This record gives sequence, structure tokens and C-alpha cells, in this order.
Amino acid sequence: MKTPKIIELSRYFDPRGNLSVIEEYKDIPFKIERSYWIYDVPGGESRGGHAYRKNNEFIVALSGSFDVVLDDGKAKNTYHLNRSYYGLYVPEGIWREMCNFSTNSLALVLASTKYDENDYLYDYDTFKIMSNE
Ligand code: TYD
Repeated sequence: MKTPKIIELSRYFDPRGNLSVIEEYKDIPFKIERSYWIYDVPGGESRGGHAYRKNNEFIVALSGSFDVVLDDGKAKNTYHLNRSYYGLYVPEGIWREMCNFSTNSLALVLASTKYDENDYLYDYDTFKIMSNE
């Protein structure tokens, strides 16, 4: 079974500025079909609040910090992301919410599928039933 995990990325230190990299299948366990980013989040707002049936994601705090709360239907875990050289892998079937965004934070999300509104599970009770089947 796939489980969420923090993945450390390669870091190339340089007096000119550091560099990190993400390659599909090498650093993250899926092919990148889509990238999006979340920015200009007003204080106190949260994003997400749903699960995906098929989509896998890798979330990086490129700037600033925020929390990602993951729920597999049995337990909840909070991951604090605040560095651009690691990220959180979130497989399908996990309820997720992003909150506590710092000012000027920038969340990069790499996704394994194209955008498909039918892939979203918005009803928590349905999610609970499906995840415990
Ligand atoms: P949504 O995934 O619902 O954001 P969140 O989970 O943070 O609440 O996306 C918000 C809107 O953006 C939604 O109306 C559709 C659009 N959207 C796309 O068109 N393509 C995408 O890849 C994503 C992630 C969102």
C-alpha cells in the first residue's frame, strides 16, 4: 500500500545560490502530468479539504511555510513544510487540507494526473467509508 512520506531532494550548494531538483520516477514515484502552485493565501485561509480517487501529488514549500494535514480514514498527521529542498508525497485516497500559510508562502504541487473534477472526493463521510473498505 502506498503511504505518504517526506522526500528529501538533492541539494547543490553554491556560493551563487543553491539548487534543488525533482525528476519524475527518480525523486518522486510518479510521472508528472501537471504542475500548479498556490500563492497569495490570505491569513487564516485553508485549501484542499478533499481527497483524490487516482491523483498522486508531491507538495513543496518553495517559499515560506504551511501545514498539510493528511487523513487516511483512520488517523490524521500534520506535516509542516518550510524548506524548498524537501516535499510531501501524497498518494491517492488520502484526505488532505493545507493551512497555516505564512505571508508570501508559495506551495508547488506536482500531480500525477491531468485535472479532472470527477477525481475529487468532497464528501468526508463517503471518503471514510471508501477508505475503510
Ligand atoms: P481546487 O483543486 O478545488 O483547489 P483546492 O483543493 O486548493 O481548494 O481548485 C480550485 C479551482 O482551480 C477549481 O475550480 C478548478 C481549478 N483548477 C484547475 O483548473 N486545474 C487544476 O489543476 C487545479 C488544481 C485547479
